[in-house]
Amino acid sequence: MVHQNRARADRIPLAVPDLRGNELVYLKKCIETNWVSSAGPFIGECEEIIKNKLERSNAIATVNGSAALHLSLLACKTKPGDYVIIPDWTFAATANAVYHAGCIPIFADIDKQSYSLDPDIVEKIISNYPGRISAMIVVHPLGHPANLDPLISISKSAKIPLIEDAAGAFGAKYQGRPVGSFGEFSVLSFNGNKTITAGGGGMILTNSSIDAAYLRKLSGQARVGQDYKYESIGFNYRMTNINAGLLLAQLERMDEMLAAKRKIAEIYDPIVNKHKNLKTLSSMNWGESSNWLYSVVCESEPASCDLMRYLDAQNIEVRSFWRSLSIQPPYIDAPSFLNGVSEKLTGKVVSFPCSSSLTDDDQARVISHLSQWNWSSG
Ligand SMILES: Cc1ncc(COP(=O)(O)O)c(C=O)c1O
Repeated sequence: MVHQNRARADRIPLAVPDLRGNELVYLKKCIETNWVSSAGPFIGECEEIIKNKLERSNAIATVNGSAALHLSLLACKTKPGDYVIIPDWTFAATANAVYHAGCIPIFADIDKQSYSLDPDIVEKIISNYPGRISAMIVVHPLGHPANLDPLISISKSAKIPLIEDAAGAFGAKYQGRPVGSFGEFSVLSFNGNKTITAGGGGMILTNSSIDAAYLRKLSGQARVGQDYKYESIGFNYRMTNINAGLLLAQLERMDEMLAAKRKIAEIYDPIVNKHKNLKTLSSMNWGESSNWLYSVVCESEPASCDLMRYLDAQNIEVRSFWRSLSIQPPYIDAPSFLNGVSEKLTGKVVSFPCSSSLTDDDQARVISHLSQWNWSSG
């Protein structure tokens, strides 16, 4: 038992919050000033900082990224029964938001190099569903920017609004411009597993002041003014000042944390590329990743299971990443346009310890065990 406890203390976690800044100072301030709920100065401060960082006119803080996606779809004036194009390789929240808005997702396969929405497939879907698609959501997988130019041009010519699901991509850049600055609406997540966390939280960015006012109202039960008067059916989707206090402290250290993530990825990359059973995800020349969650592609699903079992036994936390959504029970009836890329990737992507607080010694330990692991399917 004693031995087991010692072993647990040695465990290298996958991705934990890095709370070494002013988090406690700001939390204390929330308590001292009584601003603990969905109003308070930290919320506006965070909105202002993020709006400026992402070169947008408006930022609306929300309770999480899922709520931000839901609200963004409503702001696109989607109607029940409309279709929304989303990538097949994403987190369930992207698809769930579509259903919560009363719409139906159309799953589009991903490009075989960038693992993000394939523009050719998007065009094919639009020509198959003329006039029936009310939005498309592009996801920047693992913090790496999707190829936005062709998607923006399709969105403009088909007059279908583009939502950027940049949940894990805060800090990434596409052709020198911040990810989150491109969509009609762009969405961030500050969940505990993200590089910059609010404990739980999200943000919607938009350049439209009219949409921003609508989103703000909708997230606060659609109440008009201080009286109990309502204009529509709303939600309680606001961020609290406590979460914003955490977020503000994180924003102060954002550059440092992004740099730590970059360094971790740069150390892992050559080791992974040398390994006969593993490969790194492609780094596309159109952008710079936020290096949210360092992940590799294993040669097969059994190999990834073996690798995870092996590293877990060495007290190293690793996890399997996204799987194709369209083949899973809740989404099986939704239309899909696939060409095998997402399916082929399913079960093969494994994420490694990459907290911004990961020490050199701990990363060296992961690498040493990784180098000793070899998969032989025969
Ligand atoms: C691509 C994507 N979209 C949406 C979300 C949802 O964000 P949240 O957990 O803040 O609701 C996540 C969370 O990881 C995500 O990865």
